[in-house]
Amino acid sequence: MIIGIDIGGTNTQGVLFERGKLKAKRSVEGNKLKHALECYRFLEKKASGRCRVVLTGGGSRKIRKRDFPVPFRKVGEIQALGKGGQYLSGRGSIFVVSIGTGTAFVSVKNGRARHLGGTGVGGGTFYGLSKLLIGRDPDSTERMARRGTGKHDLTVGDIVGSGIGRIPAKATASNFGRASASYGKKELAHSTLKMIGETIGVMSYFAAKTVGQEKNIMLCGRVSLNPLVKKFIRDTAKLMGAKAEFPENAEYCAAIGAALL
Ligand SMILES: Nc1ncnc2c1ncn2[C@@H]1O[C@H](COP(=O)(O)OP(=O)(O)OP(=O)(O)O)[C@@H](O)[C@H]1O
Ligand SMILES: [Mg+2]
Repeated sequence: MIIGIDIGGTNTQGVLFERGKLKAKRSVEGNKLKHALECYRFLEKKASGRCRVVLTGGGSRKIRKRDFPVPFRKVGEIQALGKGGQYLSGRGSIFVVSIGTGTAFVSVKNGRARHLGGTGVGGGTFYGLSKLLIGRDPDSTERMARRGTGKHDLTVGDIVGSGIGRIPAKATASNFGRASASYGKKELAHSTLKMIGETIGVMSYFAAKTVGQEKNIMLCGRVSLNPLVKKFIRDTAKLMGAKAEFPENAEYCAAIGAALL
């Protein structure tokens, strides 16, 4: 029995594996020791015997041996994302895009995970702009955005009257390129999430292409629970010629990898 806990920049995710199978999972809002302990206690109760504990994620660095009720091991987040990506995709080679608080690109080839870098545009951007511009949490911003249509954005068709090559007329030429203060919050929410999703989609494609993995992209992180952002990322990746999927349990990728390393 192994418990993997990923303490991120915003949230804490934990999983319980028994005989190589995912048996239980738990997500907690917050990234402090108490959130990791909450995850651990929940999962330990579900286990049929003694558990080994493995921690990962940026927040795990601050946790000391004496803070935890049982011994634990720490593993690097990049390795954990790579291993989790292999498990969730069912493939040995995979390009993992982790959309956590920030976004990280990890290429896995021949069982080796390599960090290619990332972008500061990620879940934290979604969270922060939701609060500042819309005055809501990410989930209600998304509900609001579903009722918007993208009026703030300038399309390729708006500029040239048609598509250009493989880029269709409806593709975005400029996010907020025809912004107007008169459109209201629904449109603001829509175009904000669109800009975030499109930026991540385009960057994922170019990053994956540098290692020949643009047809083999897997996206993960808690943003995978937000259908509209997910749709913007997926549509953009497709438009660029990439193949990108969000597998089930994508928000637990690093926790799963930690448990399996
Ligand atoms: N209900 C929610 N509560 C908290 N965050 C949410 C919620 N719904 C969506 N999110 C998004 O998920 C993001 C965090 O994702 P996740 O938990 O995967 O990141 P993390 O592991 O904390 O960060 P990192 O991997 O960068 O260290 C938040 O920034 C927010 O935009
Ligand atoms: Mg994370």
